[in-house]
Amino acid sequence: MTRFVDLHCHILPYVDDGALRTEESEELLDMLYQQGVRVVCATPHLRHRMFETPDDEIRLQFAELQAYADRRAYSMRLFLSREYHCDKLLQERLQAGTILCLGAGSTVLVEFSHLHDYASILGWVTDLRGQGYQPLIAHVERYPALEGSLDKVSSLIQKGAMVQMNACSVLGHEGMRQARWSRKLLRESLVHVIASDSHDPVDRPPELDACQRYLRKKVGDAYAEALMRDNPMQILSMIEKENIPHANNQAEAREATL
Ligand SMILES: [Fe+2]
Repeated sequence: MTRFVDLHCHILPYVDDGALRTEESEELLDMLYQQGVRVVCATPHLRHRMFETPDDEIRLQFAELQAYADRRAYSMRLFLSREYHCDKLLQERLQAGTILCLGAGSTVLVEFSHLHDYASILGWVTDLRGQGYQPLIAHVERYPALEGSLDKVSSLIQKGAMVQMNACSVLGHEGMRQARWSRKLLRESLVHVIASDSHDPVDRPPELDACQRYLRKKVGDAYAEALMRDNPMQILSMIEKENIPHANNQAEAREATL
């Protein structure tokens, strides 16, 4: 079975709007394992006035999940990071130097609200880069400020951002409008990482196996593997950085029809 990485999921229970209970969290891990995922990064939300669970508490839940993976004898690597909403809490963590990056690298998963305009998103990307972090924009396909503008997404990448997209969006489970925009970004090779952003086993499950089958058909094996394994592994610093993490085969991706 092909091995994948999931860089963005809300698998830890009791810390945000992800898994509600321990059983759900464990079921999510089982599902990821069965889908061929062998590296998982738990990314609980950190958002001002909405999700403010301290890092210490999420570390406890992470240890429980690791213990479950050990009991099941899963050959799986688990990492702990966060999905940082770009707000004053992120500012505070940056000032305190307490950012939980993805793996051993300097990449930080960041999300924006529907109210962030393009200038603000660009400002955050520039600021994070200036402070030595590599911003990975979570579910790029969702933001009204970017929707429909390949130029804006391209400019953010040129300014040093990387781009993550949700598997469910690619598959059309978030509506056809979002699917069309997602697939357009993929055709233009403007995506670096596909992740599940799964929250629970029923309503927002991981759909990485279905997504990888879809991608292999539509953009080719090379780009599919870059999106779901090679680029995430580079971000986690689990493999050497050879090139800018990007589509391995841009020409093939461009020619593909979605
Ligand atoms: Fe998320």
